[in-house]
Amino acid sequence: MTLSAPAIRVRKRRNGAIPLVMVTAYDEPGARLASAAGVDLILVGDSMANVVLGQETTLHISIDEMCHHVRAVAAAKPDAHVVADMPWLSYHIDLGESVRNGAKLIRSGADSVKLEGGRVRQGVVRALLDAQIPVMGHLGLTPQSVMAFGGFKVQAKTMESAKLLIEDAQLLQEEGIFAIVIEGVPSVVGTSVTQALDIPTIGIGAGPDTDGQVLVFHDLLGLTARAPAKFVRQYANLGPVITDALRHFAEDVRSGAFPSEEEAYPNPEGLLE
Ligand code: KIV
Repeated sequence: MTLSAPAIRVRKRRNGAIPLVMVTAYDEPGARLASAAGVDLILVGDSMANVVLGQETTLHISIDEMCHHVRAVAAAKPDAHVVADMPWLSYHIDLGESVRNGAKLIRSGADSVKLEGGRVRQGVVRALLDAQIPVMGHLGLTPQSVMAFGGFKVQAKTMESAKLLIEDAQLLQEEGIFAIVIEGVPSVVGTSVTQALDIPTIGIGAGPDTDGQVLVFHDLLGLTARAPAKFVRQYANLGPVITDALRHFAEDVRSGAFPSEEEAYPNPEGLLE
């Protein structure tokens, strides 16, 4: 049965829960396959800007583009909780506009929304929760801050910044988020923030102790052009498999081997004459 936000909120490993499994998906086939694999959560991530739209950063995707893909994911009717990323600038300008944007994602088929940032986002988290929209947090190497960080750099590497991250996570928890993604931090920070919170942490490059793990669909299936990040485990290398199949198709078309008679509609009697 699809997990609700309250059901996810209590999934702490220290209380005996098994780790949460989250994977990104951006369309109906991806969501259908992820659901068939039995994942707990599907994230319609703004990483779509990178792995589907070929952009360098996640700053190149709009709320309407996100909604378009949330609808495709929801069309698969996945047996998984669907989280949709609020893209850059969809929650930074005005609280009313932020809530309307969160609602657009929900009306497109998401069960909850995710947004990046700590104390500076407290107001918008409260506004979304006031509108009854479940919110997932995201701290650490938050990709929408890539320009402010000066690149995709591991975060919380000093005692001071690690403490700030934990305080931010606690503040968001008090505000009412149901879970939080922790990305690109030393393992000890992943462990400490997980210990400090009563809501589950879902790690990506945050070590083995978080309450769940998330990976990007195209990274784990070997479908990206770029070299995978250190924290990625590639479970399949589908890129060459797909290229091989397409090459085979091209060869068959050029040689006349495709289509065969079985792949063509028969001629009705009399039509040939
Ligand atoms: O957009 C995304 O894929 C994400 C994950 C990296 C957590 O936010």
